[in-house]
Amino acid sequence: MEKKKFYITTPIYYPSGKWHIGHCYTTVECDALARFKRMMGNDVFFLTGTDEHGQKIEKKALECGKQPKEYVDEIVAGLKDIWGMLDISYNKFIRTTDEEHVKSVQKIFQELYDRGEIYKAEYEGLYCTPCESFWTESQLVDGKCPDCGREVVRQKEESYFFRLSKYTDRIIKYYEENPSFLMPKTRVNEMLNNFLKPGLTDLCVSRTSLKWGIPVPFDDKHVIYVWIDALSNYITALGYGSDDTTLFKKYWPADVHVMAKEIIRFHSIIWPAILMALDIPLPKQVYGHGWLLIGGDKLSKSKSDNVKNELVEPQALCLRYGSDAVRYFLLREIPFGSDGVYTNESLINRINQDLANTLGNLVSRTTAMTAQYFGGLVPENKCFDKKKDGELISMAENLLNEVDKSLESLNSPEALSKIFDVMSRANKYIDENTPWILAKDESQKDRLGTVIYNLLETIRICSIMLMPFMTKAPKIILEALSINADDITDFESVKAFGGLAFNTKISKPQNIFPRIDVKKELEEIDKMVREEKKKEKENKKESKMEDNVAVLEEISIEDFAKIKLKVAKVIACEKVEKSDKLLKLSVKLGDETRTVVSGIAKSYTAEEMVGKSVILVSNLKPCKLRGILSEGMILCAEDSEGKLSLVSPISDIADGSTVR
Ligand code: ME8
Ligand code: MG
Repeated sequence: MEKKKFYITTPIYYPSGKWHIGHCYTTVECDALARFKRMMGNDVFFLTGTDEHGQKIEKKALECGKQPKEYVDEIVAGLKDIWGMLDISYNKFIRTTDEEHVKSVQKIFQELYDRGEIYKAEYEGLYCTPCESFWTESQLVDGKCPDCGREVVRQKEESYFFRLSKYTDRIIKYYEENPSFLMPKTRVNEMLNNFLKPGLTDLCVSRTSLKWGIPVPFDDKHVIYVWIDALSNYITALGYGSDDTTLFKKYWPADVHVMAKEIIRFHSIIWPAILMALDIPLPKQVYGHGWLLIGGDKLSKSKSDNVKNELVEPQALCLRYGSDAVRYFLLREIPFGSDGVYTNESLINRINQDLANTLGNLVSRTTAMTAQYFGGLVPENKCFDKKKDGELISMAENLLNEVDKSLESLNSPEALSKIFDVMSRANKYIDENTPWILAKDESQKDRLGTVIYNLLETIRICSIMLMPFMTKAPKIILEALSINADDITDFESVKAFGGLAFNTKISKPQNIFPRIDVKKELEEIDKMVREEKKKEKENKKESKMEDNVAVLEEISIEDFAKIKLKVAKVIACEKVEKSDKLLKLSVKLGDETRTVVSGIAKSYTAEEMVGKSVILVSNLKPCKLRGILSEGMILCAEDSEGKLSLVSPISDIADGSTVR
C-alpha cells in the first residue's frame, strides 16, 4: 500500500541575532509531529530553514562590519547546531539565499507579472525599519509601530504591487468552505474582523531602497520585498519553478504550516492569495500557536539582551539539562492555543515533577523490583485480576488512540499529559498492589509476577509513545528492557498489551533525570548569566578596539593623504541644549570660521575649550547633529575606559596649519 504523504513546515527564521528558547518552540513542535506521523506510517516531508534577505539583516550586518551573506552564514550555522542538539529530524533546510530558491522566486515574480497580478505604482507609507513593515496611520499605536513599539518614518518609493485586494471575497469563501484551514478557530475571527471584512488593499512587493534581496527579474532597480521571497520557500523547497518538480508533485499541498500567531496574517491571507494568483492549490492548514513569554514579554531577538537573568540560550540549556528536558518543556508547558511563560524555575519544576518523579521513579522502582524478585528477568503473567489490573491495562492499550486524537489538533501538551497519566496510574498501581508485601508470601509469587509484568509492559508502551517527543530517554529505557529503539519505526507493538516476552532480560538504566535542587540551581544560573553578560560587554569593547587597529593597519599613504587635518583655534563654545555629551564650537582656520559639534562635554567644559588649539578633520562630509550643521571633526584620544583627551599641537603654531 502506498504511504500517505504528510508535508509539514516551520516558518523560516530571520538570522538577525542571538537564538533563544522561543525560536525552538515551533520547530520542536513540528519535529514531534513529524516523528509521530512517520511512526503512524506516513511518508513525511518536514521543512525548516532561514529567511535571510531584507533591510533588518542588511543593517545588522553593516553594524558588525560584515557582508550580509558572511553575517548570515555564521548565524545560520549556529541555528543548525541547535537543531542538531535538539535532534530535529527535518528533511530539508532551505535558505532563501540558496541559488535554486532565488531562481524560482524570480520565476514566480515574473509569472505573477505576466498574469497581470503585479503592477507598478508609487507608494507612500509609514515604515518601521526593524519590522520591515509599512503601516497606515490608523494601524499605529501611540504613533508607533504596532508590532514592536518603535518609531516609524514616512517613506515614499516607486514599487511593484500585488493585486491582493481582488482576493478578499475568495479568501473569505475559502475560510467558509474549509473550516479547518485556519487553526485554532479563534484566529479566523481575528483575520475576518481585522483584515478581510474591512477589505484588503494591494500589497507592496518590491523595494528600491534595499540592496540585500532578490532582484526583480525585469527591473533591476527593484528587489523583491521579503514576503513573496519568504512565503515562496514552502514551494521552492520542493522544486517548484525548477527543472525537477518531483517533490512538489508528491508533497504539495502542505498538510500544515505551523508558526506563532504574529505571522498568521501573512500565511492565511497573503500566501493563499499568491497561490490563487498562480493557480496552485492552497495548503490544507495554517496553524498559529501562542508565544513563549519571558517576564510577560514575547521573547524577541532584539530584547533578549535585557531580560531578567534567565538562561535562554538553547545550547546552554541542552548542555545543562539534556535536550529531552528542553523538548519536553516546550511540548508540555505552553497551554494549547495560548501563550506560555518561560522561566528557568518552570523548566526545572517540569524536570523534577514529571521527568524525575513520574517517569524516573516508575522506571527505577520497577526495574529494581524486577532485579530483586525475579533476578532481572521478565516474570510470567499468569495471574490477571480484572478489578486490580483492568484500568491500568486499558489506559495503556488506548494510549495510541488518545495521543493520535490530541495531535490531530497539534495539542502536544494534552498528548503528553495522557502519556504521563498512564505512568502516574502505574505509580499508583505500585502503591495499591504493594509488591514488597506480596514478595514476603511465597503463595503470592504468581500474583507478584503479574504486577511486575504489568508495570514493565506499561513502561514499554509509554516509552515507545514518548519516542516522537523525546529522542534520548525512551531509547535508554527501552534498552533496559532489551529492546533496540532503532528497530521501532512504527506503533504496531503498542496496539495490544502484552508484547513484552517472558524471561526477557531487564537491567536498571542509569538515572536519566536526576532531581534538581531548585533554589541552588536558580542561584547558580543567575550567577552564570550575570558573568556571561559581563564577559560579553568586555568582548564588545575589545572587538571595537580591534576594529580600529585593523583599519589603521591597512591604509596606504594615498589613503592617508585623503584626510585633510588642520590646526584650528576654538573662538567660542557652548553646550548643546538637552544633550549631556555635545559641545558646539566655533573654530578658526586661518581666514575661515566653522561650526563643529563634538561629543566631548563629559570631559571638557565649554569655558575651558575657548582659546585651545585642536586638530580638525577639515574635509569630513558635513552632517547635522541635533539640528546643528557640523563641519568637521575634532580629534581626541580615547582609552579603553572611554576617557577622552584632546589632541593639540605641543607648541604654538598658526591656526589653519596643515597636519600630516
Ligand atoms: O517572522 N514564542 O521570522 P522570525 C513562540 N522570517 N514562537 C516563537 C518565539 C516565541 N517567543 N520567537 C520566535 C519571521 N518564534 C519570518 C517568517 S515564514 C515564510 C517567514 C517562532 O525569525 C514562531 O514560529 O521572526 C514565529 O512565528 C517564528 O519563530 C518567527 O520567526
Ligand atoms: Mg518575528
